[in-house]
Amino acid sequence: MSDIEKEIAALRREINYHLYRYHTLDDPIISDAEYDALMNRLRQLEAEHPELVTPDSPTQRVGAPPLDAFEKVNHPIPMTSLNNAFDDGDMHAWLARIGRLLPDGMTVDDLEFVVEPKIDGLAVALTYENGILTRGATRGDGQVGENVTANIRTIKSIPLSIPVSPDGPPAPARIEVRGEVYMPIAAFNEFNRQQAEKGEKLFANPRNAAAGSLRQLDSRITAERPLAFFAYAIGYVEGADIRTQKEALDYLAALGFPVNPDILHTRSFDEVLHFIHNWMTRRDTLPYDADGVVVKINDFRLQEHLGVVGNAPRWAIAYKFPAREATTKLLEIKVNVGRTGQITPYANLEPVNIGGVTVRQATLHNFEDLAKKDIREGDTVVVKRAGDVIPQVVKPVLDLRPPDSKPYRPPEVCPTCGEKLARFREDEVALFCINSACPAQLVRQVEYFVSRSAMDIEGFGIKIAELLVAKGLIKDIADIYFLAEKREELLALEGFAEKKVDNLLAAIEASKQQPFDRFLTGLGIRYVGSVVARLLVEAFPSIDALQQASQAELEAIDGIGPRIAESITAWFSRPANQALIEKFRRAGLKLRMAPRSPEAASRPLAGLTFVLTGTLPTWSREEAKAFIEQHGGKVTGSVSKKTSYVVVGENPGSKLEKARQLGIPTLDEDGLRRLAGA
Ligand code: IVH
Repeated sequence: MSDIEKEIAALRREINYHLYRYHTLDDPIISDAEYDALMNRLRQLEAEHPELVTPDSPTQRVGAPPLDAFEKVNHPIPMTSLNNAFDDGDMHAWLARIGRLLPDGMTVDDLEFVVEPKIDGLAVALTYENGILTRGATRGDGQVGENVTANIRTIKSIPLSIPVSPDGPPAPARIEVRGEVYMPIAAFNEFNRQQAEKGEKLFANPRNAAAGSLRQLDSRITAERPLAFFAYAIGYVEGADIRTQKEALDYLAALGFPVNPDILHTRSFDEVLHFIHNWMTRRDTLPYDADGVVVKINDFRLQEHLGVVGNAPRWAIAYKFPAREATTKLLEIKVNVGRTGQITPYANLEPVNIGGVTVRQATLHNFEDLAKKDIREGDTVVVKRAGDVIPQVVKPVLDLRPPDSKPYRPPEVCPTCGEKLARFREDEVALFCINSACPAQLVRQVEYFVSRSAMDIEGFGIKIAELLVAKGLIKDIADIYFLAEKREELLALEGFAEKKVDNLLAAIEASKQQPFDRFLTGLGIRYVGSVVARLLVEAFPSIDALQQASQAELEAIDGIGPRIAESITAWFSRPANQALIEKFRRAGLKLRMAPRSPEAASRPLAGLTFVLTGTLPTWSREEAKAFIEQHGGKVTGSVSKKTSYVVVGENPGSKLEKARQLGIPTLDEDGLRRLAGA
């Protein structure tokens, strides 16, 4: 092996291990910047030596050119489904059935069970040959699935080669690993939010999102979807002796596969039932959607003895959680005015308990969906909720429709400002309030401008936005930066003590230093969220450059299509928006990217993340933040494993406690200065 080949092999091993620490163990041991440096080095070497690129290189996780269709794959061992149980009676019946089929001399008291949450995603089979992932296939009908290898490779918690860790067992000659590809609930919510922002299709639940993402012919799209994986079974293995389900799970974890941490291994059937009921009541606390619990007989020899009937094994059963659906009466259909002026319908409901949560409102998605389903006020409707996803109205129960009900008619004017509603484009059904002075829109715009994903102004939430718009202190988003001139008026507002006003004004002032792409995001131009904004500022680093960019120039940016480009040029061509930009400029915002200092990466705090707590002896919070940032560090609001240091002042809060729990080092103000070499 040449030196280059050795370096490439070492980099791949190292990167794969760090991906595993981050995505599977949730316990990274290097900073994002260090990780990026390793990846950049590998990309560089592979670019110089394309003949050395292999499919198991971590650089290949970005996706491959699109396919025309998926190839069919025969599963060497069929992927069965499971029989269902819906109550404890069904579980006892299952156990009794097994009891009658056990080998002579064995009773149900001799059994061991493994109990696992049933993840609501889609089943896949991953083949590894001599430690390399060679194929990923969907379950399909259990006999024949689809070859989705390129898509599988983009899922960062799925190892491209095993074992991932140097302390893992040696790779078996061949193994088929089975498990579930899913989308974590938090990632799903964020993903749908981004889809909405881009005007793209929303997914009804994490399962559909996972399935839609994995079954993309263009794996580059899959690569952008936040998919995750749990391994739960071995289809077959050559070169390892695995005798029980528990051993299989331990072996898979040792090879570097993500294995669900919430798994029970027990001999007590009472404990099995207890575990199930416990998860049933706590299902909403899980970070993924689970639609039940799977109970498996541990011993593989017994599994074989019990066998499969039809297309489900006797040795396993799925205890399904009750559906999170209920019927209730739809009292009235109301509409919301969004940040872009889009009007969306929602339902006020007769309160109903769905899986332990009282639901009073549910989304009706959009007017098209509403019309298609012919949902009416006064209808009895099916309402569904899943995880912490917003409850939705699924359909009306037509048999219960009151005889005098009338089809719903969308409003013609904005419920807030009375402006006549319009369609943005002929081919779109969405309705908009096009009055740029509409207070409801303005509140949403302000809320968005100050939010985490944009200017991140601490302490400025929707309540304050509503109040300031209602009192006329904010007439457009640039007015936020003129609030300092209205200090007296702010102090006169209910609940606005001196300290609160000063903190708010300081946070607003500090936000002027936010990077330009955050400002651009905050403008709320249709289809321009934080990802697109970052692409834009790379190519057009100032507002003037961007304002002058033609549609063709915008479209030349990788990742920007005609729809986004058109939306941007349309936004800048409106005189009201040009005036708004000028107003921001007058307020002192720079409206361009900060010049990139060449020595940025070598600044003393580069790659370090700090959390501040308590009152520091000489610095205000904003000053400390500015100091850290000037020296190349980052400040975040909450302590996690990724925090490098917690800077502690007088009267620290719970953040200090959290730091101690996680073993994160602390500093005082002087310590921080010393660390920065100041
Ligand atoms: S075991 C015979 N374990 O449930 C064993 N399946 O109806 C077959 N699933 O298509 C599967 N979590 O997608 C098993 N911990 C788990 C599971 C699980 C989710 C899904 C899987 C399968 C379906 C079976």
